[in-house]
Amino acid sequence: MELQVVKTEDGSHTLFVPEINEHYHSINGAIQESRHIFIENGFKSVQLKKPEMSILEVGFGTGLNALLTFKENENRHLKIRYVAVEPKPVEDEVLAQLNYPGLVGSCDERVVFFKIHKTPWDFPYYLNEEFILFKVNGLVQEIALGENKFNLVYYDAFSPEAQPEMWTEDIFQKIFNSMITNGLLLTYCAKGEVKRILKRVGFTVEGLPGPPGKREITRAVK
Ligand SMILES: C[S@@+](CC[C@H](N)C(=O)[O-])C[C@H]1O[C@@H](n2cnc3c(N)ncnc32)[C@H](O)[C@@H]1O
Repeated sequence: MELQVVKTEDGSHTLFVPEINEHYHSINGAIQESRHIFIENGFKSVQLKKPEMSILEVGFGTGLNALLTFKENENRHLKIRYVAVEPKPVEDEVLAQLNYPGLVGSCDERVVFFKIHKTPWDFPYYLNEEFILFKVNGLVQEIALGENKFNLVYYDAFSPEAQPEMWTEDIFQKIFNSMITNGLLLTYCAKGEVKRILKRVGFTVEGLPGPPGKREITRAVK
């Protein structure tokens, strides 16, 4: 898969996939979009009974969401278990070109970003004493997610137009089952059909204001 590194409006990079004519993030600002959807409306909004959180990311890609979550947790000191699913890891030469370390805002983020990508696949790994990263090299359709585990889901697949097989009732039912009650699922996608599927599998669904360039995003509560 030939990926092109592209600069977005906030100065942060994203990747463009010519075969499907899709970017990994919004061209209006990759970091801005990820922070708004997954950190501000997800990570900061989850209700916790204990100072620990299990996060599932569908579509790990560049690792930007893991980096932002790690960074945000430097203020919260939760025990994080972060499971990231990805069938096609981005190659090292491409990752090396991304300008996320330096833009996210932490003195050791270069080290953290490096660790995020150098940790082995299919093996839980402590990024520090608070944060376990478990990168799973596979398709979300095929891996076991378990039941009543996740407080938060970052659903960051390619769009329904590019990858309709990622927006099915089967996948969302499996993810719903893997979440704990009151857990949150966030996605940039606000299509009516996707929201209807989320409701059918049992979520309560709300539309929230999107980041610049996007009117609405979706938050689903179990
Ligand atoms: C929109 S991009 C991901 C953006 C990523 N979260 C980031 O910040 O770079 C979608 C990702 O989903 C991955 N993907 C494609 N099919 C998948 C599947 N069946 N299960 C899980 N991930 C999948 C793609 O390889 C790609 O990395």
